[in-house]
Amino acid sequence: MTVTSSMRALLLLIAATIIGCSEESAPTAVQTAASTSAGDTAKGLDYDFYKESIEPIFIRYRGGFVGPDTACVACHTVQANAPLGLLPLTEENGEVFWTEEESRQNFENVAMLVNPSDPETSRLLLAPLAPIVGGESHSGGIFWDSVNHSEYRLIAEWIASGDPTTAADPIVEVDFEFFRSCVQPIFVNPIDNAMPCTECHSGQFAIPPAANSYWTVEQSQLAFEELLNFVDPGRPDFSRFLHKPLHPNAGGDLMHNGGRRWYSKDDPERQALEAWVQGDFTGTSCPSALQFDNPPRA
Ligand code: HEC
Ligand code: HEC
Repeated sequence: MTVTSSMRALLLLIAATIIGCSEESAPTAVQTAASTSAGDTAKGLDYDFYKESIEPIFIRYRGGFVGPDTACVACHTVQANAPLGLLPLTEENGEVFWTEEESRQNFENVAMLVNPSDPETSRLLLAPLAPIVGGESHSGGIFWDSVNHSEYRLIAEWIASGDPTTAADPIVEVDFEFFRSCVQPIFVNPIDNAMPCTECHSGQFAIPPAANSYWTVEQSQLAFEELLNFVDPGRPDFSRFLHKPLHPNAGGDLMHNGGRRWYSKDDPERQALEAWVQGDFTGTSCPSALQFDNPPRA
């Protein structure tokens, strides 16, 4: 599985090189004066400017495959838990691109990371910027040494196109206590005729508890950290944990070797998990859809 996905990323980057070459001169906001009227887009941000000048930054080839040499998209598609929420690129007739519909969705997601009321505090500007000049630490590495970098300036200009009365989206915290008390038991309580998640994901998030006992706090913490790789805080439908085991007819993933657990988005268990991913469910008291007797609690 790992091999396939890294090979895919490689192919994607090779294709991105070709795209990268053709858009070297950075356009500016000036050319987008006659764009979609503000107000009907997320935070009033200029969509045409986004499509023309911001999105290409995310697929720009940077010369390598490690850290800041990598294109943003290599780490920031919905498959990776990194909150930029870019969709995987569409490949068609040897070309790699985002369709209009995909770009619109990307735009919505990227808009969540900007703050037109105080542009410099936008997460989209802080993550790639060097901490020494005010940026924030970023697993992807440092892309801009200063706020004068052309990409920084371009993104700042785009953010300034937004409605200055709109603010940053709150950062959603997915609660650990709720995971330990209410979510983790899912992994050992299969639905009828299904195998428990622990059968196949024991090396990841579905760490099995010792016989007849509940997980230790340490085991829960490990499992939680692993599961967070498949959870996109605030965005249930982008969270692979809620997407993989959902039936494709209900909008779930086209394939999952482990079968399906939910056949509808209205499934009360999935709805409870959705509320948890939204940050709405916290603490140790579980809604009825998430009450399990197994494993026994001390
Ligand atoms: C090598 C992988 C990698 C690359 C390349 C990468 N990122 Fe990231 N990025 C991550 C990961 C992992 C996170 C989540 C953890 C963190 O914040 O460090 C993240 C987080 C972010 C965040 C959210 C920060 C926050 O406030 O939570 C933004 C915004 C972001 N990246 C933008 C970018 C942009 C723009 C690029 C390209 C210029 C880029 N990243 C390239 C891996 C990468
Ligand atoms: C019979 C084995 C099996 C069982 C049982 C199983 N899975 Fe899976 N699961 C897989 C395999 C294999 C993959 C990777 C290939 C794929 O996507 O189907 C996977 C992928 C996943 C992914 C995406 C992981 C990634 O790296 O992208 C998630 C999330 C997931 N499963 C959740 C669950 C949950 C939750 C359960 C229990 C309700 C479960 N699975 C039960 C075999 C299983």
